Amino acid sequence: MIAALLALGCSGRPNLETLRDPEACAACHPVHVEQWRGSMHAYASTDPLFRALNARGQRETNGELGDFCVRCHAPLAVELGLTTDGLDLDDVPEELQGVNCYFCHSVSAVDGTHNNPLQLTHDGVMRGGIADPVRNSFHASRYSPLLDRDDAASAQACGACHDIVAPSGAHIERTYLEWRESVYDRDDVAFQRLTCGNCHMEGDDRPVAELAGSTFPVRRLHGHAWPAVDIALTDFPGRDVQRALVQDALDDVINPQLCVTVDPVGLETSIVADLENLAAGHAFPSGAAADRRVWVELVAYQGGEEVWRTGHVEPGVAMDDTPDPDRWSFGDRHFDATGGLTHFFWEVETVASSLLPAPTAFSPTDPDWTDTHRARTWVVEGVQADRVTLAMHLRPYPLDVARRLVEEEGLDPGVVDAIPTFTLGSAALEWSVDLGRACVR
Ligand code: HEC
Ligand code: HEC
Ligand code: HEC
Ligand code: HEC
Ligand code: HEC
Repeated sequence: MIAALLALGCSGRPNLETLRDPEACAACHPVHVEQWRGSMHAYASTDPLFRALNARGQRETNGELGDFCVRCHAPLAVELGLTTDGLDLDDVPEELQGVNCYFCHSVSAVDGTHNNPLQLTHDGVMRGGIADPVRNSFHASRYSPLLDRDDAASAQACGACHDIVAPSGAHIERTYLEWRESVYDRDDVAFQRLTCGNCHMEGDDRPVAELAGSTFPVRRLHGHAWPAVDIALTDFPGRDVQRALVQDALDDVINPQLCVTVDPVGLETSIVADLENLAAGHAFPSGAAADRRVWVELVAYQGGEEVWRTGHVEPGVAMDDTPDPDRWSFGDRHFDATGGLTHFFWEVETVASSLLPAPTAFSPTDPDWTDTHRARTWVVEGVQADRVTLAMHLRPYPLDVARRLVEEEGLDPGVVDAIPTFTLGSAALEWSVDLGRACVR
């Protein structure tokens, strides 16, 4: 009580220090706080992979990396001068770790398209998407288009932190650019723009504040869990909830088709898989696409026996350590100045990309239309398959690279064991000769 009174100061408003602590919001916004706590925004500077990679980058560049990584992963700590290289994050108070409430809700301008060019105004005003906020005794409130998911400016604010241009100039994470090139950044009679928040912060209708003795209007309480691909790899609040939300999100992304034709004379089976990115407002995978391992698994059977397969990866074995010339996989590959494969941002000079792009238009008659289906054919000789199954898998981080970080950076081996492998629900298909047709979807 005394602490709370002291924090309020003479103006009746809390000092900025209190406003920067997410725990201070829990009294009136408990749902936002609970969801955020389990999110990757909260985990961004705790993430042991982040810590290990940043430490390696600082060492290998003799500190030239500076605040490059930490300015996105612990932006408020950098803004307040509490860290310049992220090597001392253990000394930064817990409430200032990650991308926190105060950071997003103080953004007042966006000065670019990548590497976090967001400007904050430290005036104690919490900016949001509500035009007529009910006054409260704790903080001032103000509407800002940068925090209104129904305004294109909000995509600029999210996007500028979700695109990374490496020190060499290579555009290594391109979620914002991909979105801008997609049909989702269009606003015309045929289509209303879908921003990042429109897809990633759906939420539900209910009061957005609660306080004993007060009633607040029903509004949209926007989701603050941001599930997509990553989950916490160490003990962290809401880890199981986040994992279930990620699985749900992944379950609807891809629209697949599987066609099988058997040549009875030539004794061969031809298998065609056709994939379409149905739900992501940018490529799939996107962002950290060089770390994602996304692959297709196909199994052909004849008379109940398995006769051919591709894309099988054993649990605990890295995809890249599983030789398979037939495997179809998606992601980015990064190359250094000598043209060699690299897993480290600060060495990247060029990017080779194989992703499932987002649609550029919804009708082939639209001048912006491009074909965003991706298809591949396998001809399996000596086989007359009567049943074929298709599945798609995703691993957020490559096990072989994580194991290198165990050996070379002292990463806890438990982190490697915690890296999940997801199977995408929508992509599970089964073709059988009994169907009497070539294609299933
Ligand atoms: C004493 C209660 C209380 C506390 C504590 C509190 N808020 Fe609020 N906040 C409110 C109320 C009430 C509203 C208005 C709700 C409405 O209009 O429906 C609000 C609105 C907001 C808005 C929307 C502003 C707009 O115009 O869109 C944001 C953003 C916000 N709060 C962030 C925070 C953050 C971040 C914290 C913690 C640092 C916090 N609040 C702490 C009561 C509180
Ligand atoms: C990554 C940026 C980001 C972070 C971090 C973040 N928010 Fe928000 N928040 C938003 C956006 C964007 C909206 C507005 C969505 C809209 O109105 O379209 C929002 C809306 C709100 C609102 C208004 C009600 C609503 O749901 O629209 C409150 C209150 C709020 N946030 C509280 C918090 C609290 C408390 C935290 C930390 C525990 C937090 N936010 C962390 C981006 C963020
Ligand atoms: C300050 C920079 C910053 C801003 C602003 C920001 N993000 Fe993020 N976001 C991050 C970082 C860093 C991570 C990854 C943390 C990690 O996994 O270590 C992340 C993670 C995410 C994830 C989870 C990705 C995954 O693979 O699991 C989603 C979804 C997301 N952000 C959406 C948004 C949306 C929507 C907004 C705007 C409302 C936004 N972000 C604003 C930096 C930012
Ligand atoms: C049309 C809906 C939609 C829009 C618009 C959208 N996203 Fe997504 N996003 C998705 C879906 C669906 C996924 C994939 C599902 C998953 O990863 O669980 C995804 C995945 C992601 C990921 C994880 C990518 C990966 O493979 O690691 C990030 C980060 C992300 N989105 C951020 C953003 C940002 C930032 C914007 C705005 C510039 C945005 N999204 C716009 C639907 C959308
Ligand atoms: C422009 C802001 C930005 C910068 C700079 C940045 N990151 Fe990130 N980082 C993100 C975002 C956004 C995500 C989530 C992307 C996604 O989910 O696809 C992310 C995800 C990650 C992840 C978890 C996902 C994965 O790849 O497995 C790690 C680890 C990471 N970053 C490490 C680093 C390191 C190390 C650096 C510096 C060499 C760095 N980041 C620089 C924004 C940034």
